[in-house]
Amino acid sequence: MSAAIYPGSFDPITNGHVSILRSGLVCFDRVIVAVLENPKKQSLFTVEERVEMIRAEFAGEQNIEVDSFDGLLVDYCRKKNVNVVLRGLRAVADFEYELQMANMNRHLNKKIETVFIMANDAYFYVSSNIVKEAARLGGDVSKLVPASVAARLEDKLGR
Ligand code: PNS
Repeated sequence: MSAAIYPGSFDPITNGHVSILRSGLVCFDRVIVAVLENPKKQSLFTVEERVEMIRAEFAGEQNIEVDSFDGLLVDYCRKKNVNVVLRGLRAVADFEYELQMANMNRHLNKKIETVFIMANDAYFYVSSNIVKEAARLGGDVSKLVPASVAARLEDKLGR
């Protein structure tokens, strides 16, 4: 069975992420969504909340596992016995950072390959950060995130 790890901060998951994951499932039998636990990075949602929201979105889907990790991604890949990392690419601006990460991961473990999926054009401009900023300022982001996430954003931002 083929498998890939889809790592990220997912603070919170957006429809762009959902779309990348759905495309990933066209290529792989199983995808593990791995939420980075990074105490140094200020996040709006706790890791537990982020994992919970993703689990809620994909409840009952046997080919999707949702987990969290800390430390190096390559160590997590080894632990899960998966050698493919799945990442989404939006605008050209993503490319340099992604190239750097993919090569660093390959440097750390030469077995690790990164597979990129082009973001659906409907979500080309969508990122967790821009969604949070718009929501914070009272913008309607309900079409850019799963419904449960939109509700959680409202709760979190006290609306
Ligand atoms: O959603 P993001 O914030 O762009 O995801 C970045 C992520 C989590 C994939 C990346 O920061 C990561 O893999 N961090 C784990 C630490 C690590 O392995 N660093 C070395 C390779 S860059």
